[in-house]
Amino acid sequence: MPVLTDHVQAYLESLRAERSPVMAEMEEVAAREGVPIVGWETGRLLAVLCRVLDPRVLEVGTAIGYSTLHMAEQLSEGRITTLERDPDRAAQARGFWEQAGLAGRVELIEGDARETIGGLEGPFDLLFVDAQKADYRRYIDLALPHLSERALVAIDNLLMSGEVGRPEGSDTFWSAENLSAARSLSSEIMGGGEWLGVVLSVGDGVGLAVRR
Ligand SMILES: C[S@@+](CC[C@H](N)C(=O)[O-])C[C@H]1O[C@@H](n2cnc3c(N)ncnc32)[C@H](O)[C@@H]1O
Repeated sequence: MPVLTDHVQAYLESLRAERSPVMAEMEEVAAREGVPIVGWETGRLLAVLCRVLDPRVLEVGTAIGYSTLHMAEQLSEGRITTLERDPDRAAQARGFWEQAGLAGRVELIEGDARETIGGLEGPFDLLFVDAQKADYRRYIDLALPHLSERALVAIDNLLMSGEVGRPEGSDTFWSAENLSAARSLSSEIMGGGEWLGVVLSVGDGVGLAVRR
């Protein structure tokens, strides 16, 4: 469910460029198999950041590799390490990157990110968090020692279909645990303490933050 009003969302969708055949196939597979992937505009935001920064990326939550592909297409020297615990999705992702001719820019590490992040070789300049919502804080804490000093942290789903703005106890699609985790993270990154950050109403709500 989009965060924006229907007419603004429809307007933005009318501006969407045509997908490459691989991107289109990934969207079809995700819709058919119920795989949650970022919205097109979130993918484009990540693509722009990768084009500008050409970063070493750490992504938590690969699924079938759709957000990864948005980023990988724009890299020159930069590379992506992406973490996924579901072996079937990992295999699908690898297949799509091969098809796109970009597999050489991506390393996928299979396993639970809470266990694999600690063993990674950084530093990473962009951390994109998009896995188990209640664990976002944990992934960020585990990744921090592997980030470069001015690394950008991008976090998906912080607006959770807009439901974070509903009073606590409302009847919601997102669980109370997930809503509480998103509210607390948004308040932290926008609160002016350790982080300089913002929550954008792009896609399902994307947080962008850098440590002060
Ligand atoms: C929302 S999907 C990722 C979508 C992907 N970023 C995209 O937009 O194309 C979340 C993925 O995170 C994976 N995941 C959840 N918890 C995880 C964990 N602790 N470690 C690794 N992967 C995890 C799930 O298996 C799922 O495929």
